[in-house]
Amino acid sequence: MEPFAVESLDPRTISPADEKSIAQLRQSVWVNSSKDGFLAEPFRPFWKAYSGSDAQAPAMFVIRYGQKVIALAKTLPRIIQPQGRAEMCVMGLASVCNAPDWRGRGLGKAVVRAALARVDKGDFEWAVFQCPAGRQTFYEQFGVRRVQNRFFRTDRLGAGNNPFWDECAMCYPKRDGWPDVDIGVPSPGW
Ligand SMILES: CC(C)(COP(=O)(O)OP(=O)(O)OC[C@H]1O[C@@H](n2cnc3c(N)ncnc32)[C@H](O)[C@@H]1OP(=O)(O)O)[C@@H](O)C(=O)NCCC(=O)NCCS
Repeated sequence: MEPFAVESLDPRTISPADEKSIAQLRQSVWVNSSKDGFLAEPFRPFWKAYSGSDAQAPAMFVIRYGQKVIALAKTLPRIIQPQGRAEMCVMGLASVCNAPDWRGRGLGKAVVRAALARVDKGDFEWAVFQCPAGRQTFYEQFGVRRVQNRFFRTDRLGAGNNPFWDECAMCYPKRDGWPDVDIGVPSPGW
């Protein structure tokens, strides 16, 4: 039996109640986050204004208990610029979490699987994201691998900085073809 269904939400049309529930979930998980603007969702305006293809539209995967969102994984298109190669649109994965009282019941796994399935069905060639060293093994069970590329911001505000604040840069799937070069990112990290 699958007691918890994963639901896909479109951030362009999400209800204020769901937005509030997701914000409360993130605040309950990252209580002591010192990441500037992380809880304020710097990509929110981008999500709301997105007008690209439906296949690569931002999507949030959630599990609810009643109306309350208790698990979350966000996906959004992100441009990366492997040096000397054509730029690529990859699937950023962000804000993977579940409520502290609901850990260890497969919910985290369910929302991550749903998110990575976008790559499996061809919406994106690769997913790229960051995670703390302590979460690396959680992601490896899905066929995600850590990559060693140097990532650096190319936008004016962050020029030269690493866009990621966690230790590990991760990519999915684990197969040949990932560019083994430095990678520019024309935006803040996700
Ligand atoms: C990471 C997180 C989403 C996992 O969610 P969860 O619902 O507790 O995980 P699940 O119950 O789905 O666990 C699935 C599997 O992952 C494993 N796992 C869970 N947390 C893990 C961790 N921190 N490190 C390694 N493996 C982990 C479980 O042992 C389980 O393995 P199994 O299927 O072989 O039994 C959750 O702990 C969380 O929200 N943490 C805080 C926020 C965070 O760190 N997010 C990730 C940032 S990149």
